[in-house]
Amino acid sequence: MFTTCISGEIWQHALYPSPEEGWQIYSSAQDADGKCICTVVAPAQNMCNRDPRSRQLRQLMEKVQNITQSMELLDLRTNRDLQYVRNTESLMKAVDVKLKTASDNPRSLNPKSLQELKDKVTQLLPLLPVLEQYKTDARQISRVREEVRNLSLVLMAIQEEMGAYDYEELRHRVLLLETRLHSCMQKLGCGKLTGVSNPITIRASGSRFGSWMTDTMIPSSDNRVWSMDGYFKGRRVLEYRTLNDFMKGQNFVQHQLPHPWAGTGHVVYNSSLYYNKYQSNIIIKYHFRSRSVLVQRSLSGAGYNNTFPYSWGGSSDIDLMADENGLWAVYTTIPNAGNIVISRLEPQSLEVLQTWDTGFPKRSAGESFMICSTLYVTNSHLAGAKIYFAYYTNSSSYEYTDIPFHNQYSHISMMDYNPRERVLYTWNNGHQVLYNVTLFQVIKTAGD
Ligand SMILES: *[C@@H]1O[C@H](CO)[C@@H](O)[C@H](O)[C@H]1NC(C)=O
Ligand SMILES: *[C@@H]1O[C@H](CO)[C@@H](O)[C@H](O)[C@H]1NC(C)=O
Ligand SMILES: *[C@@H]1O[C@H](CO)[C@@H](O)[C@H](O)[C@H]1NC(C)=O
Ligand SMILES: *[C@@H]1O[C@H](CO)[C@@H](O)[C@H](O)[C@H]1NC(C)=O
Ligand SMILES: *[C@@H]1O[C@H](CO)[C@@H](O)[C@H](O)[C@H]1NC(C)=O
Ligand SMILES: *[C@@H]1O[C@H](CO)[C@@H](O)[C@H](O)[C@H]1NC(C)=O
Repeated sequence: MFTTCISGEIWQHALYPSPEEGWQIYSSAQDADGKCICTVVAPAQNMCNRDPRSRQLRQLMEKVQNITQSMELLDLRTNRDLQYVRNTESLMKAVDVKLKTASDNPRSLNPKSLQELKDKVTQLLPLLPVLEQYKTDARQISRVREEVRNLSLVLMAIQEEMGAYDYEELRHRVLLLETRLHSCMQKLGCGKLTGVSNPITIRASGSRFGSWMTDTMIPSSDNRVWSMDGYFKGRRVLEYRTLNDFMKGQNFVQHQLPHPWAGTGHVVYNSSLYYNKYQSNIIIKYHFRSRSVLVQRSLSGAGYNNTFPYSWGGSSDIDLMADENGLWAVYTTIPNAGNIVISRLEPQSLEVLQTWDTGFPKRSAGESFMICSTLYVTNSHLAGAKIYFAYYTNSSSYEYTDIPFHNQYSHISMMDYNPRERVLYTWNNGHQVLYNVTLFQVIKTAGD
């Protein structure tokens, strides 16, 4: 047994060894029963007078706060996905009711239509385990959230009443919690695009054409926003501290790129900017912190200089993007007859790892973006555009789609997915606009 430094929020757990020193926070996002567990073990009394390093503690608390925010976002997202499942559930119930009515009153049905109904129900049955899985995920997330909230309370109490702690241990535990949050987010995983929400206009600034973005790397707690005005020979990148600063046009620094850019297909991935060098098919990786070019490499055979742009022109020959599975280049070549080609790139060397020919003419595409290794292509940059074509790199196959979205300002010159935030960033006629996306995910369950 050991004494706690403060009373109240903290309890001991017989399963864990007593700590000689320091706080021990045991947490897990998921165990075999899908439960989240958090146990905090307080240090022995003699540790209560250690050097108070409240700055680090405050940082830890902030981190927990940040995790809480991510958790809330995750929760909203899961609930959104859950709505899809609920809709399917009610559909299933409706079919079931119909079937029952028909069975009770067989004369209202001929054998053929009865069989049809039965088949329909049978088709829906595999959805049951999927529904269960979704519900479990949602429950798990709310447990993790509660756990973080508890942890936050504990930390607050420690700071107020004690001022002493083993911050290394705390830091370690918070990192662990972060890792688990990440795996929880990963678990929500990938799926097929089923919808694009109504747009939210963040700002109206700069010229008609341009590009803006946040870091697409998962995980990352980087909130900076970058804006690159224009598509022709630009060199100036504005970096805002947060989205809020971007909205207000305040708190920014400038980066002057050593080489100018072409088009609007730039992407920020893992704190570096990847962009197409003006009048070339060279891709440049520019590192913001060191303000230097880390690597540049020619994308072999890729058309450039407005030879194979998207439908709006603007030297949009080479479109770089990142999704859950890494870095991609979308372009075309003369041997590919102007049809969109997708290449997966190695982010350090910019080497091409693998290439797919989608067969879709690049000049007929408004824009394209990658979600979960699937390329989605719009059929126009103008009003009435929709997401028209999907290419699945996992199976090297394609499908025509009909996913509408509201093109509010009628001229989209950039559209990119951010997998961390699950939103689409667009530049629409001088407006910076965001869309939420809904992905439908089928979870494999035992017996599938
Ligand atoms: C928490 O997030 C804020 C901005 O959202 C950031 O400035 C801060 O560095 C983050 N804190 C930690 C400890 O990660
Ligand atoms: C959080 O604290 C409350 C009240 O102390 C407790 O009932 C609950 O089980 C705790 N939740 C988790 C996930 O530890
Ligand atoms: C490929 O990905 C799509 C969308 O995520 C999915 O629906 C499909 O089942 C996957 N195909 C294969 C062969 O894994
Ligand atoms: C991100 O960058 C860091 C160094 O800046 C590197 O160590 C790490 O491997 C990179 N991660 C990916 C996925 O490229
Ligand atoms: C790019 O196109 C412009 C005008 O269309 C032309 O003047 C220039 O020579 C081209 N440059 C290259 C490198 O192809
Ligand atoms: C996306 O969804 C979140 C949570 O539902 C909401 O807060 C946010 O405003 C939405 N953003 C857009 C661009 O629709």
